[in-house]
Amino acid sequence: MSLRIGAQRLSASVKSSRQSVIRTARRSYATPAATSNLPQGLKNSIEKDATLATPDPPSDSQTSRLVNASTPYMVPTYVRPAPMFQQGEGCYLYDVENRKYLDFTAGIAVNALGHCDPEMARLLAQQAQTLVHTSNLYHNPWTGSLSRLLVEKTIEGGAMHDAARSFICNSGSEANEAAIKFARKYGKMTDESGKKVEIVSFHNSFHGRTMGSLSATPNPKYQKPFGPMVPGFRYGNYNKIDEINELVTENTCGVIIEPIQGEGGVNVATDEFLLALRRRCNEVGAVLIYDEIQCGLSRTGTFWAHSSLPKEAHPDIITTAKALGNGFPIGATIVTEDVSSKIVTGDHGTTFGGNPLGSRLAHYIVGRLSDPELQQGVYKKEKVFREHFAKLQHRFPDVIEEVRGKGLILGLQLSEDPTPVVTAARERGLLIITCGTNTLRFVPPLIITEAEIEEGMNILGDAMQAVFRTSEHIEGTDGQQEMRTA
Ligand SMILES: Cc1ncc(COP(=O)(O)O)c(C=O)c1O
Repeated sequence: MSLRIGAQRLSASVKSSRQSVIRTARRSYATPAATSNLPQGLKNSIEKDATLATPDPPSDSQTSRLVNASTPYMVPTYVRPAPMFQQGEGCYLYDVENRKYLDFTAGIAVNALGHCDPEMARLLAQQAQTLVHTSNLYHNPWTGSLSRLLVEKTIEGGAMHDAARSFICNSGSEANEAAIKFARKYGKMTDESGKKVEIVSFHNSFHGRTMGSLSATPNPKYQKPFGPMVPGFRYGNYNKIDEINELVTENTCGVIIEPIQGEGGVNVATDEFLLALRRRCNEVGAVLIYDEIQCGLSRTGTFWAHSSLPKEAHPDIITTAKALGNGFPIGATIVTEDVSSKIVTGDHGTTFGGNPLGSRLAHYIVGRLSDPELQQGVYKKEKVFREHFAKLQHRFPDVIEEVRGKGLILGLQLSEDPTPVVTAARERGLLIITCGTNTLRFVPPLIITEAEIEEGMNILGDAMQAVFRTSEHIEGTDGQQEMRTA
């Protein structure tokens, strides 16, 4: 419905501006024979090239040739926009046509240190020349050091106060898979009835695509094609305190929740809700899992998003990935001694997880991301974003309904489909993504500067202007007044 309204509004404004162009043309030129005979397609592409910084590459471009040569060989799990990115530096990406884009997406909250951080690149090369992989059958200097650093930084940063051990894996889904398995084992070890097997998760959550993490992700679009799901999953409503007692029972072995739902629309859990969940988990003897894969590692200004909560709301397990490798695939599941004591040799494992190369890089990245100066910067940058959001809201009061989020995981709730805004922004040199229902999501690199935020927000303003054309829009003048001679 809202999509249709947006499309109608756009087509009406396109129609009216087209009519004014026609009127102007009739007035300015004597005969129709004087009008250009360029093909319409060429005229359109001239207009695009002249007005947009980074128009999507056309079908006869080098980009399209490269895309067309490889796409038929790829399982079609994604629809990608036209540009092809071949280089990154800091907060910018460059496409194969050598055009520059400001990146407000950070590879979906991954490149917290920006693209191609020089020190990370140096360590990557050094470790690649020293030791890449040995398997988990042997010791190496880095898997253990990373496990220890994650525990130390968790406690030091005021989060899960009884964090004790880490399991290193390769991705967010795998980190959650480990957490779900650990919760199941915990249930079996603490209740001999065999009934303590249920895992609770929440609507609008996203925990991954493997069968366990997918079973915890109650989105019909993702689950339906692959059913049946793993048995024993129950779903509740986020932030609904009065539903917790019925949802979490003596049969619950684990509850998994994102302190801020990323994919679901940048929804923030209230402190009261998390406190109540913790209390209920204690009552029934269930493990509480915070999925901080998107919102953790200083994205909210504290090391974990839940660091600001009192210890009565701390979890038993934290899962992380994304920014942990700044683009190198790695994840981790951090647990208390109580949880770890239920796991024995052979219960779980991985071939690649925690290899020396990934662990060395993550060890460095955790050090950088836990820097208090970087964390303070996140708060300042949030403020800059919010100032710009307030101005945008003033310009587009009918379109922007709400601002949500914390630190540098922020969402603008629009009243209509933001897809045309994403396209218009990209064609003006800004990459931005969506989430939830009609939400624009802002998850830039944490190293972004205030000047870059301003640059991006100006582009976003132009993009929204082009899509929604507010009353503030200044119509073209009738005739050639600026060109008049005395
Ligand atoms: C909160 C959360 N959990 C889990 C995942 C899954 O992580 P991955 O794609 O690395 O498997 C994601 C990915 O977007 C996520 O945002």
